[in-house]
Amino acid sequence: MSAVAARRNLRVTRGRVAIERLEIRFGGQAAVADFSLRVEPGEFVCLLGPSGCGKSTVLNSVAGFIPPSRGQVAVDGAVVTGPGPERGMVFQQHSLFPWKTVRDNVAFGPRMQGRSKAEADALARRYLDLVGLGSSADRYPATLSGGMAQRVGIARALVNHPSVLLMDEPFGALDAQTRAIMQESLLRLWSRIGNTVLFVTHDIDEALFLSDRVVVMSAAPGRVLLDLTVDLPRPRPDDVFADPAFAEHKRQCLKLIRQESRRAFEFADGAGI
Ligand SMILES: Nc1ncnc2c1ncn2[C@@H]1O[C@H](COP(=O)(O)OP(=O)(O)OP(=O)(O)O)[C@@H](O)[C@H]1O
Ligand SMILES: [Mg+2]
Repeated sequence: MSAVAARRNLRVTRGRVAIERLEIRFGGQAAVADFSLRVEPGEFVCLLGPSGCGKSTVLNSVAGFIPPSRGQVAVDGAVVTGPGPERGMVFQQHSLFPWKTVRDNVAFGPRMQGRSKAEADALARRYLDLVGLGSSADRYPATLSGGMAQRVGIARALVNHPSVLLMDEPFGALDAQTRAIMQESLLRLWSRIGNTVLFVTHDIDEALFLSDRVVVMSAAPGRVLLDLTVDLPRPRPDDVFADPAFAEHKRQCLKLIRQESRRAFEFADGAGI
């Protein structure tokens, strides 16, 4: 059991992610180069970095949507060669089927896994309850607020019991209040379920509030510049932002991200863009 899981008193044994010297090229250009990262079962890790540094590319590669040009990604010792139910993805813009009800969107995964309609519906109900949307099962995605749609997206990912939950700026399109509520409710879910979370965000406060570790990436091609253990107790109080340790972590991340954003901008400038 990892130290992180022990702290939360959960026996998490699945969800170890090992990214080894990952390189991903699009055409002639490397989006990610020499990117290595190990994540323990049950750990919550955020990826931060300037726009275009390859955060989504790394996540998509762990999801199995993008094959490595070099290096590899393994989950619990098995090399990732394509998507799999043990890795669930939540995107920035929800990707729900507009023609299906909320229930059928969540039941879709279990149905694809061969569950009967009754079983899949029962599972959908359970996970919708978990994200506080049990009473919205018959609604269609177009009638939901942004926060509700993201909750359905989370239920749809969790219903497959993924050992690794991949989240690409899942709260990026939400207003500040909804975002704060979603962060708290995600942490509650995570502490009950105990899966590994790999979470991409632009927001340093969000990263520090949520995670056990914050990984700051360099400008493209993205690699790990800083792997910071967030030394703040859990559950984190509302005023954790005022903690001197939080301020120090934030200063460290901000400095690096500013430096890398400037580098990316100068590069684009030099290329005459
Ligand atoms: N399918 C693709 N085909 C070609 N190039 C791509 C593809 N996906 C990403 N890229 C390029 O790879 C680089 C990294 O993109 P990526 O989307 O991973 O960045 P990011 O860090 O997620 O950025 P943002 O913070 O803006 O979301 C960019 O230069 C992007 O243009
Ligand atoms: Mg992205």
